[in-house]
Amino acid sequence: MYIVDQETATLGLYIVRPASRGQGVGRSLFQCAMSQPCVRGRSVVLHSAPSLVSTYARYGFATADLTFRGAQGLLSGTGCAKRKPGHGKPGGLRVERIRDSLQEQVAAYRLSVSGARCSGSDDFWREWTCDPEHSISRCAVRGSRVLGYLVIRKRPGHSYFYLSSFYADSLRVAELLLGEVARILPRGVALKCYVPSSNPAAGSLFTRNGLNRTDDADYAQPMYKGYDKFSNVQWDKVYAITNFTNVVV
Ligand SMILES: CC(C)(COP(=O)(O)OP(=O)(O)OC[C@H]1O[C@@H](n2cnc3c(N)ncnc32)[C@H](O)[C@@H]1OP(=O)(O)O)[C@@H](O)C(=O)NCCC(=O)NCCS
Repeated sequence: MYIVDQETATLGLYIVRPASRGQGVGRSLFQCAMSQPCVRGRSVVLHSAPSLVSTYARYGFATADLTFRGAQGLLSGTGCAKRKPGHGKPGGLRVERIRDSLQEQVAAYRLSVSGARCSGSDDFWREWTCDPEHSISRCAVRGSRVLGYLVIRKRPGHSYFYLSSFYADSLRVAELLLGEVARILPRGVALKCYVPSSNPAAGSLFTRNGLNRTDDADYAQPMYKGYDKFSNVQWDKVYAITNFTNVVV
């Protein structure tokens, strides 16, 4: 159980040694975690494996009002809007690295789409978006207005990258961001992400760009207890997230 902030905790890495499963060990661990004083009064969010959705429902968790599908493969970029040589992007849109001077605006954009509260001066947020060792991040800007952003995380020891949060005001903006990423990613790098089913444009964007739906066993179902802010999330602008906490925190 990880205490994220004043209002939210997240439960993850819930695992019991295979030989000891089915004997109540998991239930005891779960109940112990949920009854910790630091959890009381906080919402709890988690990513459920499909087989455990009904179990968490019995424990009082509700399914968030979106479902995720996984997408993975080699990003081709062929299904993205092409930039004509010698011309700017349509409508004066630019795609830029999320450098220091843009941190605050991107964090504000993220807040407007999802209600997530990181700020540009937050260490976690800076490391997550700006650290070139672990992240490739880009935002779409028109004038001084941010219209979308994405962050790709490199996972040490993993053979693939994760497309972390990816929000955009429109499909056109999403295409430009993804096209830019396809151009700059090293060749042959595999990418994974979670795509909200409640944004059909997101699913088709990934399919057109070589990232195909994973099978059911790879899905993760966001669930929550005591959380009531999903109505604030603009799901039509959410193209991908790695983790539920990307949306709620
Ligand atoms: C999930 C896990 C931690 C449960 O541990 P466990 O000791 O086997 O669980 P218990 O015997 O205490 O059972 C706890 C509950 O989970 C349910 N459950 C356990 N394994 C299940 C499975 N594979 N499918 C569906 N339900 C399952 C039980 O029916 C029980 O429900 P109840 O409390 O309403 O009666 C264990 O199966 C595990 O390590 N799985 C692999 C890792 C994993 O999937 N973690 C969860 C990610 S969301």
